[in-house]
Amino acid sequence: MSAIAPGAEQDGQRERRRRWLPAAVVAGVLIAAAATFLLSFNISALPAPGGLETALATAGKHWFIGRAAGDAPPAPPDDAANRAAGQSLFGMACANCHGQDGRTAAPIGQAMYPRATDLGASATQDFSNRELFWIIKNGIRLTGMPGFAHINSDQEIWQLTYFVRSLGRAPGKAAGMPPKAAARRQR
Ligand code: HEC
Repeated sequence: MSAIAPGAEQDGQRERRRRWLPAAVVAGVLIAAAATFLLSFNISALPAPGGLETALATAGKHWFIGRAAGDAPPAPPDDAANRAAGQSLFGMACANCHGQDGRTAAPIGQAMYPRATDLGASATQDFSNRELFWIIKNGIRLTGMPGFAHINSDQEIWQLTYFVRSLGRAPGKAAGMPPKAAARRQR
């Protein structure tokens, strides 16, 4: 018969407690943090999203859209006629939220969470043409941005893409863009 010395048994218990205690403390802190977050969470759309939330959402959006965009269907030329067609479609389908100029959200767009984006800003212009096409066609889940796949043809979505791209070429903007960034956006 092998009897375990009482001292050794106590050491074992102490050792187990030492191993579990930090994990229990971490779990307790996480549960308390989650409870505090849930109890203080404000589901209202009125306050603007904070800086950290916007930064995380922007990074996540670029990652997901970069993966999803894949191959876009054949594109018409990015010329004045297609940009003008895109501008007129924009006035009908997008200006309600993004504003007539695409840069100053209309009141309804400013009341959304997240706000309807200034499409000429670098956060939008950093998407490639293929990614912008994907966004307009599919929309962005959990935001007010609708998907236009069942409303507009691919040709029209390319025209909208070119109009959105032209918003980043406002005087003084495109001129300073490094060639690498400019090339990436055309892809
Ligand atoms: C009902 C309101 C609404 C309409 C209509 C709408 N949008 Fe949006 N759009 C939004 C909102 C809100 C966002 C912000 C989503 C986000 O922050 O992820 C957005 C985001 C976008 C983005 C991505 C910007 C970025 O930087 O993430 C593009 C591009 C865009 N819209 C283009 C369009 C075009 C083109 C149309 C018309 C064909 C259109 N939108 C119509 C509300 C709208």
